[in-house]
Amino acid sequence: MFLDRLKNFKSYKTETTPCRVKLSSNENPYDFPVWLKEKIGKAVKDIPLNRYPDPLSHELKEVVADFYRISPENIVLGNGSDELIHLLITVVGQIDRPVMYPVPTFPMYQVSADVLGRPKSEFSLDKEFQLDKKELNKALESKPQLAFFASPNNPTGNSFDRNLILYTAGKGVFTAVDEAYVHFSDKKDFLDEAVNSDRIVVIRTMSKIGLAGIRLGVLVANKEVASLLDRARQPFNITYPTQVIGKIVLTEGREVIKNQIQKIVSERKRVMAQLKNIKGITVFPSDANFFLIKVPDGNKVHRMLIKEGVLVRNMSHLPMMENCLRVSVGKPEENDAFITAIKNVMEKL
Ligand SMILES: Cc1ncc(COP(=O)(O)O)c(C=O)c1O
Repeated sequence: MFLDRLKNFKSYKTETTPCRVKLSSNENPYDFPVWLKEKIGKAVKDIPLNRYPDPLSHELKEVVADFYRISPENIVLGNGSDELIHLLITVVGQIDRPVMYPVPTFPMYQVSADVLGRPKSEFSLDKEFQLDKKELNKALESKPQLAFFASPNNPTGNSFDRNLILYTAGKGVFTAVDEAYVHFSDKKDFLDEAVNSDRIVVIRTMSKIGLAGIRLGVLVANKEVASLLDRARQPFNITYPTQVIGKIVLTEGREVIKNQIQKIVSERKRVMAQLKNIKGITVFPSDANFFLIKVPDGNKVHRMLIKEGVLVRNMSHLPMMENCLRVSVGKPEENDAFITAIKNVMEKL
């Protein structure tokens, strides 16, 4: 009785079928080199596990601030950016005023709003998966107080028109730009706007650049906004291991991360170019560590790829995503396995 409203609840679904090649979660395909893992191992061994971690993550914040060339006062850290999304939906504006976001997009805006019982104002992207001013204006009529724009967007891969994001903020809506994939994009980011405005914040994550396992999200805002949001955060949300590992990787591992990002971007270009030569596949532009393709029968191709040992994410159930599959960029050998597999599948279709 008390939990009845959860019976029809749409929770976050992930792809868990075991497969030889996993290209389904937009992770960084590379682990860190042995010398860095050994440093991490030593540091983790020294953690006093009986003690609470630093509730303010002082040292980690300094390192993250330096990594993004901003000041620690502009930062709120989260247990993954999922937690920061939930925090914003919990505290920004009034809980009975809608959260707006385009569809299709990252599902956690919907999931968190539903958990909290907050109204949603969803609006469609245009045929090129770009923001559409008419649709934006319709959504604004519901008087939302919070907007989310994932740019580059998941699952479409493209970046949004920055003028339309600024337009939304200009209409008095607290605007969160979710830059989970920005490290793979050459478009201008929103860090300056976030640091200087009381209405625009940026959300980032370390998950896509090699640290999905430690759960570390970063919200960037002006100092006053950051300090207010920080009051509502769980006190020990950043675990001791996360603080220790994050500090090491974001200082000593910077070059490694930079090189991995370069490899991923160049592999993205290579794989997309090859796919464009396969008849029956449409490849959509991407600024991310994944890309979207359209095939003649999404469900069937997805199943057949699994039989070939390759797991990608089937997006066919989402609005505008009929027969679409989302493919993460892997290591060169994984990408080659995917290309071989999809060629086989397309021939058999
Ligand atoms: C757009 C977007 N935002 C946020 C996240 C969540 O990131 P985290 O692992 O930091 O919770 C994802 C993960 O896929 C994402 O695609």
